[in-house]
Amino acid sequence: MNIVFKTIGIVGAGAMGRGIAQIAAQSGSAVLLFDTQPDAVSKAQAAVGSQWDKLQEKGRMAPADVQAAKARLQAAGSLGALAGCDLVVEAIVERLDVKKAVFAELEGIVGETAVLATNTSSLSVTAIAAGLKRPQQFAGFHFFNPVPLMKVVEVIAGLKTLPTVCEALSACARQMGHTPVLAQDTPGFIVNHAGRGYGTEALRIVSEGVADFATIDRILKDQAGFRLGPFELMDLTALDVSHPVMESIYQQYYDEPRYRPSVITAQRLAGGVVGKKVGEGFYRYADGVAQMPAEAAVPEVAELPPVWVSSRATRRPELYQLLKDLGAKIETGQSPSPQALTLVAPLGFDVTTVAVVERLDPARTVGIDLLVEDTATRRRVLATNPATRADMRDAAHALFARDGKAVSVIRDSGGFVTQRVLATIVNIASDICQQRICSPADLETAVTLGLGYPLGPLAMGNRYGPTNVLEVLFNMQTVYGDPRYRPSPWLRRRGAIGLSLLHEEE
Ligand code: NAI
Repeated sequence: MNIVFKTIGIVGAGAMGRGIAQIAAQSGSAVLLFDTQPDAVSKAQAAVGSQWDKLQEKGRMAPADVQAAKARLQAAGSLGALAGCDLVVEAIVERLDVKKAVFAELEGIVGETAVLATNTSSLSVTAIAAGLKRPQQFAGFHFFNPVPLMKVVEVIAGLKTLPTVCEALSACARQMGHTPVLAQDTPGFIVNHAGRGYGTEALRIVSEGVADFATIDRILKDQAGFRLGPFELMDLTALDVSHPVMESIYQQYYDEPRYRPSVITAQRLAGGVVGKKVGEGFYRYADGVAQMPAEAAVPEVAELPPVWVSSRATRRPELYQLLKDLGAKIETGQSPSPQALTLVAPLGFDVTTVAVVERLDPARTVGIDLLVEDTATRRRVLATNPATRADMRDAAHALFARDGKAVSVIRDSGGFVTQRVLATIVNIASDICQQRICSPADLETAVTLGLGYPLGPLAMGNRYGPTNVLEVLFNMQTVYGDPRYRPSPWLRRRGAIGLSLLHEEE
């Protein structure tokens, strides 16, 4: 294998530094690990050594390779010991002043051609490089935790970084078995920027009283295929990590409303209810297992009313077929009879607005989210409006649960849950493309590997239809009068001319 950097220095032997040390040594580079804490390096060496022993036990590393890797991972007694390194990666405390001081010192220690890189997740690469004599040889090299398992690395060019430096770091990432993605130096780079949509919009839905945490988690897992719901994810990451990231990106983008953090996480963080690691977050944990509240039972309804479907319903033919399959009495008149349960299936609009605009009786009107086709989901989501009668709500719930599929009933909200969250994710991703922070292909790679989403955000937009996503955003903008739902021009253009969001352009 081609060894890109023969000797890699790593400053900071914490969670990240030791992970980077492991994959660098494993892939053939000599590694010198330095930390200001006296026993941090020996602890890191022991931890990495035991990881290798485990890989050997599982047959994933040969004994000779483990021996060689251990020999390649050495302690550096001082920063000065890194003099012979051709790359130094910094993974110390996330403070601009401390990082700048370390790099200023390092620059005087290493050779003129050496590359210096920071693993910062939230500081500007350009700001760290400011004041260095050779900012052109400095870049961001952003790994994710745990490093050996998270196979993506963001290679970030500061204002003065040479393209050859980014190329060398990308080759180095490949040598370590990781996939590099190239990012411009912007707040949150790619992954932490693209990840804003999921939790932020989910928090917004809770803050509007539309649905509770567990319901939102269930909907996004069952309708959109996310492995973890946003609240499960925040519990895992812990709010002492994720809330400051939300604040930092919002502030660095000068209060861009799309990234506005939530008072819900601020307050929970202040109260110490930060997540799984303390036994309590959005969920309570018993022996590390989240205690999920039970779902509302399907109501017993003696006789179901006939059902009438709005002529403007999304996926109307599919909805009729579904109702037929569920054994519903379907009305096909111009308007519903006085007994009929009235179904609407809007994109982006709320049930209340649709009932008013279509002159339907709101007391009998219930909405269903059909952005995702019914056959592709494990859950149906219904929304009431403030006037919906309890007997109509219960009838709709019982009807749509007849074949055993899960049903959630939420309060009225433009865009239900899945539409809101998916449209927000696609819109933020489109804006990342608009700003040319990275290529669409690297965006998809970074998000699928870094966030574990079922699809890249642009593929997600294609899957549900760029015009549908646009319609959700336009209508939500009307419902909420809030610029955070303003569609990115990048998305508008592609939606308007019916282009795939993954189309290679210009
Ligand atoms: P950590 O707290 O686990 O480790 C930091 C280590 O740096 C400690 O051992 C500390 O003694 C050492 N240190 C502090 N100041 C130093 C100095 N001046 N010289 C040498 N060593 C020094 O921190 P962690 O989580 O490993 O984070 C390190 C960096 O990586 C930060 O910039 C962080 O933002 C970034 N990062 C962290 C991720 C994570 O999930 N933990 C993910 C991606 C990036």
